[in-house]
Amino acid sequence: MELIGFNKPYFTGKETDYIRQAVESSKISGDGMFTKKCHQFFEQQYGFKKVLLTTSCTDALEMAALLLNIQRGDEVIVPSYTFVSTVNAFVLRGAKIVFADSNADEPNIDVAKIESLITSKTKTIVPVHYAGVACHMDVILEIARKHNLFVVEDAAQAIDSFYKGKPLGSLGQLAAFSFHETKNIISGEGGMLTINEEQYVQRAEIIREKGTNRSQFFRGEVDKYGWVDIGSSFLPSDIIAAFLYAQLENITAIQKKRKAIWQNYYEQLKPLEQQGNISLPVIPDYATNNAHMFYIVCSSLSERTKLVDYLKSKKINAVFHYLSLHKSPYYTNLHDGRDLPNADRFTDSLLRLPMYFELTETQVSYITETIHAFFKA
Ligand SMILES: Cc1ncc(COP(=O)(O)O)c(C=O)c1O
Repeated sequence: MELIGFNKPYFTGKETDYIRQAVESSKISGDGMFTKKCHQFFEQQYGFKKVLLTTSCTDALEMAALLLNIQRGDEVIVPSYTFVSTVNAFVLRGAKIVFADSNADEPNIDVAKIESLITSKTKTIVPVHYAGVACHMDVILEIARKHNLFVVEDAAQAIDSFYKGKPLGSLGQLAAFSFHETKNIISGEGGMLTINEEQYVQRAEIIREKGTNRSQFFRGEVDKYGWVDIGSSFLPSDIIAAFLYAQLENITAIQKKRKAIWQNYYEQLKPLEQQGNISLPVIPDYATNNAHMFYIVCSSLSERTKLVDYLKSKKINAVFHYLSLHKSPYYTNLHDGRDLPNADRFTDSLLRLPMYFELTETQVSYITETIHAFFKA
């Protein structure tokens, strides 16, 4: 039997056609025909005020930190259980990261802990919608309003997911998405910034175009373009956008299939949760599930290690996820020393099972039966 990998990029079949079209249009730099199609798709489908494709979610987060004028000494509240890019974007601007703990029952930021972390230097809260499941945004937005803070959603995993009916990525001033090949909708590497307040739109275009007003020039709004602000090169080639557009056209089918896989996992593993062997993902009633990921939470690091090894021996590749950033080699001495036990628990105990479009029902059954066998033994 072949190894069941953790991820397998899905190709709809149209990607190479669209890439050929992009190449034949003789415009393969940024903001070509397919970038415009992708922008339109997102603005129409989800009602985002303005979106800009970027070369990664990391870049979209870096754009957000530039747009909000994050300065040396500013404080940014971020969950410790997240990917390094969530914080690195702000650290690059000289910000101090104030790490928050996760909820006890799911990895998203514990909103009850946020207010005690706010000081006169706090500028921004960055909720991360882990596994595409919404953070409790009403509470976060109310805290932000009360203390005059920005909210940047890290929606890397959150495409096509909702909070009380509102699309994730539409709730903060800004939000960042990823189209890395491990996500639901992919372009190899790729990302997007959503801009939900008009006041940031023009400067976002400038920052994305090396600090120039080239976007306005291409629209004929100015007769020459030049250097007007700081910026970098954050826009992807239209070849990337061509690939992405083929995926977006199939988003309904992709999501339907992923949700069916997720549901199968959930139902087949439910008895193990009832017996107290593992915990399953919690989807709060304000959130939807976009089936980005299927994870289980083991009772300890040693049990997870044994399970990973057992699954590997049965040709199943299951992988853990983030390592708490407050304990990372880079930040441990800069962290204020608070314990963040829930983040540490997910670091040690969360295990992601194979999840991709082409995973078959038979494979899911094989994986869940193997997990059942592990706990029986
Ligand atoms: C929460 C989170 N933020 C940001 C990123 C960075 O995304 P990208 O690889 O597109 O830069 C990731 C990557 O998986 C992520 O999980």
